[in-house]
Amino acid sequence: MKGMDKVVILDFGSQYTQLIARRIREAGVYSEIHQYNISIERLKELNPKALVFSGGPASVCEQDAPDIPDKIFSLNLPILGICYGMQLIAKKLKGKVSPSKDREYGRAYLIKVKDSPLFRDVFDNEKLQVWMSHGDKVDKVPYGFDVIAKTENIEVAAMENREKNIYCIQFHPEVAHTQNGEKIIRNFLFDIVGLKPTWNMASFVKSVVEKIPKVVGDANVVCGISGGIDSTVVAVLLNKAIGKKLHCIFVDNGLLRLNEGKEVVHYLTDHFDLNLKYIEASDLFLSRLKGVEDPEQKRKIIGRTFIEVFEKEAKSIPNVKFLAQGTLYPDVIESVSFKGPSAVIKSHHNVGGLPEKMNLKLIEPLRELFKDEVRKVATELGIPDFLVWRHPFPGPGLAIRIIGEVTEQRLSILRKADKIVEQELKDSGWYYKVWQGFAVLLPLKTVGVMGDERTYEHVIALRIVDSIDAMTADWTRLPSELLAKISNRIINEVKGVNRVVYDISSKPPSTIEWE
Ligand code: XMP
Repeated sequence: MKGMDKVVILDFGSQYTQLIARRIREAGVYSEIHQYNISIERLKELNPKALVFSGGPASVCEQDAPDIPDKIFSLNLPILGICYGMQLIAKKLKGKVSPSKDREYGRAYLIKVKDSPLFRDVFDNEKLQVWMSHGDKVDKVPYGFDVIAKTENIEVAAMENREKNIYCIQFHPEVAHTQNGEKIIRNFLFDIVGLKPTWNMASFVKSVVEKIPKVVGDANVVCGISGGIDSTVVAVLLNKAIGKKLHCIFVDNGLLRLNEGKEVVHYLTDHFDLNLKYIEASDLFLSRLKGVEDPEQKRKIIGRTFIEVFEKEAKSIPNVKFLAQGTLYPDVIESVSFKGPSAVIKSHHNVGGLPEKMNLKLIEPLRELFKDEVRKVATELGIPDFLVWRHPFPGPGLAIRIIGEVTEQRLSILRKADKIVEQELKDSGWYYKVWQGFAVLLPLKTVGVMGDERTYEHVIALRIVDSIDAMTADWTRLPSELLAKISNRIINEVKGVNRVVYDISSKPPSTIEWE
């Protein structure tokens, strides 16, 4: 975000770095994550009001430990060093850091040594529960620093140089286990740096709506709508900024949930007057999937066919120069951060490759936002809850929830079962508590009995999971009465199914989807 007061977080590879950024934004200050070895020139360009050094898995005592240029300190910016960040500051400013044999991990109690603006109104009494995760420890603070807190295990759990506005803490204020962690972050932002809480979703929408028309000029922009929250927000936001110059395309691949495609398209055209074209391509997708059983094959075929249909449509729009996409901040950080892009476990389906092929520039208005911020933008734009809180749905749709070949008949069975799962989760209030809940159709038949007759029919598996970011997940402990109701309804109402099973695997080692 240009022109907005920001805090830059230098990432040394901590698993909590994203959380630091989120906590700062929740406090109303815009923050960005950058790699620890960013150049001074780039840092000056970014013009942050303060820096945060994250934690990290390395030891500052090792030879090739992640380092920063000394010049960072001559920028005279306020700095908050967390864990590895603190040890690095201690070492670079000529304090003493020593490696310890055991990593201190988990809860610890912080004991106040000296009053500090960082801890204003933080201690209820003299002790505070904090979350530690470190190996090294600071033995001697650098010249000009004072110890402000200790624990039973370490003499320097926090230190400050008030004159230079450098504050360091050994524990993690960004995690929920640290009591008053958000207050510590707020004290740094507001009392120490002097920032104001100006980052909110109304200001975000305003800045995008002002900026985009200048970028686009008189060209047209094309945007694929999936019915998911990200592409919906991109479309409604850009519609607000450039109106009919935005051309949205919804490709119905025949792999959607019951009535989903038409419902989404009608809603968006009726309520937001979107310039939206609905393309019915079910037959094409299904014909290409005929006889295909391998999951990766299915994904690839669906991805390729989507691009083909989308491209054909996009080419028919005159003067298209941009492709709008719902890339989010975690995708951006993945590619720039310490760890680099993570390995591809399943090939995800998007319009990759299209921008180069059609010579389109990308517009990614959400690339600075976390998912929870996108939901807030959606509400700000008047997008209703049923779209905002919809469960994630994979690009290849029901094709990867039908194990084995995808046929019209199997799709029809799965759609009916899936609808029952959704309805029952909604009626019982569980829909909004879980990350995702859906039905999977298995490629096997089992024996049952209905009335006096023997049956030989399909099995439906229920997959209902709790998760925060889909990277890890656990199966939801649904009440047994609710499971019984879903199972009864599916077996009674969906012809062709005589057995329902509940998937009790976590991710990892399983994944959320079955294919
Ligand atoms: P897995 O199965 O990898 O899924 O544990 C993690 C999350 O990603 C969703 N998912 C997809 N989303 N295109 C998407 O847009 C895809 O190809 C795709 N595959 C999985 C899945 O529903 C879950 O929320």
